[in-house]
Amino acid sequence: MGDQLRYDGKVAVVTGAGNGLGKVYALMFASRGAKVVVNDLGGSFKGEGASKGAADLVVDEIKKAGGVAVANYDSVENGDKIIETAIKAFGRVDIVVNNAGILRDVGFHNMTDKDWDLIIGVHLKGSYKVARAAWNVMRDQGYGRIVNVASAAGIYGNFGQANYSAAKLGIFGLTQTLAREGAKKNIKVNCIAPLAASRMTETVMPKEMLESLKPEFVAPVVGYLCHESCEETGGLFELGAGWVAKLRWARAKGGVMKKASVEGVRDAWNDVINFDDEEHPSSTQDTFPPVMAALEKAKL
Ligand code: NAI
Repeated sequence: MGDQLRYDGKVAVVTGAGNGLGKVYALMFASRGAKVVVNDLGGSFKGEGASKGAADLVVDEIKKAGGVAVANYDSVENGDKIIETAIKAFGRVDIVVNNAGILRDVGFHNMTDKDWDLIIGVHLKGSYKVARAAWNVMRDQGYGRIVNVASAAGIYGNFGQANYSAAKLGIFGLTQTLAREGAKKNIKVNCIAPLAASRMTETVMPKEMLESLKPEFVAPVVGYLCHESCEETGGLFELGAGWVAKLRWARAKGGVMKKASVEGVRDAWNDVINFDDEEHPSSTQDTFPPVMAALEKAKL
């Protein structure tokens, strides 16, 4: 095994692990020694129906390969039940991958409350519920690794995905605060925005592209972020096909209005949007210096 990064003695919960990316995460953790809870509601990618088959097949595959796994069929909206399965079967939870997801793409002008609530419920509330149920277990253990799943649609916006974009960027907000709150208890929380072939993307991407975008290229990044040797926390990573890169905020140096008026804003606008001397704020405290500097100037 040499220097293989392993998860012996660790318990991993992967939501939505019956298909696509989640399945590959579950297989990876199990093949490297973790005991795995394979959660999947087993519905369609639009969130319709439910079945036990998806999770069961993955559990069988793990067992056949000599690994340890149990299935859970609850919706992530009942995250406490998923964590309960982990505790009952294995007594602890070290790793959570909040991967479960569905799509309800529709132009905003046609979006219904149902389209909105369903997506926010599964992605944002589901990530909250599972993390919340695992959180105090991890705090008590003094150890935890959580990977949440965002999307380029959330970072940049995407036509027809107002509900999904809102949920996915919300998940990054959740990640950043959990990273801070978990720091003292050795709980590291990161966020990924993957690109991979799955039933979710097979209708929107050309076939040749899908073939080279294997989930197997995404899984190792999740594996690294969930390993005990990884110190990274609060990060957002874009990845696919073996490429992975961290994202951060960039802030323009900014403009100060000479007079607190709408015209004052107009006159400062070129500075407001000029990124020549950009900064990279990384905490709420980083908002204060330019604001204080503007106050000082105003006193002159
Ligand atoms: P997928 O549709 O193949 O897998 C998602 C799994 O989640 C399915 O097995 C489904 O049954 C399960 N699921 C759905 N609702 C659930 C619920 N309420 N409770 C428990 N399980 C539930 O999709 P894929 O592509 O593997 O997506 C995985 C994650 O990655 C999702 O969060 C998705 O939004 C995200 N993502 C995927 C991208 C891609 O390129 N494939 C791009 C950006 C984000």
